[in-house]
Amino acid sequence: MDKLEIIGKPPGMPGTGLVGTLPIRGAKNAALPIQCAALLGSGLTRLRHVPKLTDVSTMNRLLREVGCAVEVIADTDGRTVEIDPRGVAQGSLEAPYEMVKTMRASVTVMGPLLARYGRARVSLPGGCAIGARPIDQHLKGLQALGAKVTLEHGYVDLEAKRLTGGRFLFDKVTVGGTQNVMMAAALAKGHTTLENVAREPEVEELALFLNKMGAQISGAGTPTIEIDGVDELSGIDHAILPDRIEAGTFAVAAAITRGDVLLEHAPVDHMHAIIDTLVAAGAECRVEAGGLRVIGPERLRPFDVVTRPHPGFPTDMQAQIMVLATMADGASVIRETIFENRFMHVPELNRLGANIVVNGNTAVVRGPTKYSGTTVMATDLRASASLVLAGLVARGTTEVRRVYHIDRGYEAIEARLCPLGAQMSRYHGGGA
Ligand code: UD1
Repeated sequence: MDKLEIIGKPPGMPGTGLVGTLPIRGAKNAALPIQCAALLGSGLTRLRHVPKLTDVSTMNRLLREVGCAVEVIADTDGRTVEIDPRGVAQGSLEAPYEMVKTMRASVTVMGPLLARYGRARVSLPGGCAIGARPIDQHLKGLQALGAKVTLEHGYVDLEAKRLTGGRFLFDKVTVGGTQNVMMAAALAKGHTTLENVAREPEVEELALFLNKMGAQISGAGTPTIEIDGVDELSGIDHAILPDRIEAGTFAVAAAITRGDVLLEHAPVDHMHAIIDTLVAAGAECRVEAGGLRVIGPERLRPFDVVTRPHPGFPTDMQAQIMVLATMADGASVIRETIFENRFMHVPELNRLGANIVVNGNTAVVRGPTKYSGTTVMATDLRASASLVLAGLVARGTTEVRRVYHIDRGYEAIEARLCPLGAQMSRYHGGGA
């Protein structure tokens, strides 16, 4: 297993800040559902600016498994992925346990397979590191469109000759659930109204993509989505939007190192809650023609954050913003309301010297921390990003193990941060 070694630079000494320009890659959470949506097309879809991440490769593997021809073409700013679904009718129409357990977003093939091929079989995800994460809302929504759902042997089987439009109110705001049901409704017969939907930019991006394929969807980005089902969708050419979470993570890196970094192509319109928090902490955030420039202050102020569905503060930035809080002068309070078990980075940050006390879904963070490097274990994708951030400002060497978690969502993080002045190396075959 790979490990990362970071030689930290405690802020305050000359030359410790990250400085330079960092181009932001395509968004993982936009790419994954759009890869699934390619299943709905009658021909080849070409996706550009696809980030080079293991989750994206896992999704390509799953698409091949269900019968797609998938070609990955390397280019300079990410990759181009061509997905041809024309062989799917003869495929297994199944997302097996091995795939779903590695990447929960695999369940997003369910809606497209069902709508286009009349059948889908998907392993139930089970627990994952950051909480229970059930898919009841996905299934209820698809049932509202006429799907017959059977649960057996840890798998869910769905069937419908042709889905029919309907009205569905989500009990809980879910990004994946909204995307799954919206994709299914795009090919259903008649009109569908989806209420209490997720408003994340990646839902809007998927609706935009589907409309380019020929779907008739309105309201994405608001709490209600209206869909007029169509008979056919075509394969298209599409560029993936830049990643707001990657941009947010690197913005924190700039802020805590007292750096000055231009996050090229950062999708600032989707980052209000993140930018507001950085500004509350005292970082300077300038929206420039090329992207978002973040300048770290001499002294960071404490702040409070509550994670919420978009446009609230994203749960996927909670671990990283906690590192910002640890560097602030005073007490910050961070409350997690989306996932029930998303503080696994806390014991590891505390091993590096942080003072974070967790009570239920609330973390009280007292700073400023003088991090001192040691060996830490990555537990999930965003938790591991927080350990890299802490390592950047720690005295001595921080060794982050189980780097495969980081590679799920950040493209070669060391190759991105080193040109800005970070000292990081990857070693292959480190301990578990
Ligand atoms: C997506 C993102 C993930 C992000 C999350 C919340 C992708 C590939 N992943 O995950 O990075 O952290 O949104 O912004 O886009 N829930 C139910 N029943 C359901 C579905 C969800 O109770 O049927 C609950 C979940 O357990 C969780 C909450 O709803 O507590 C939000 O989950 P959801 O929005 O579905 O997250 P994902 O789509 O899995």
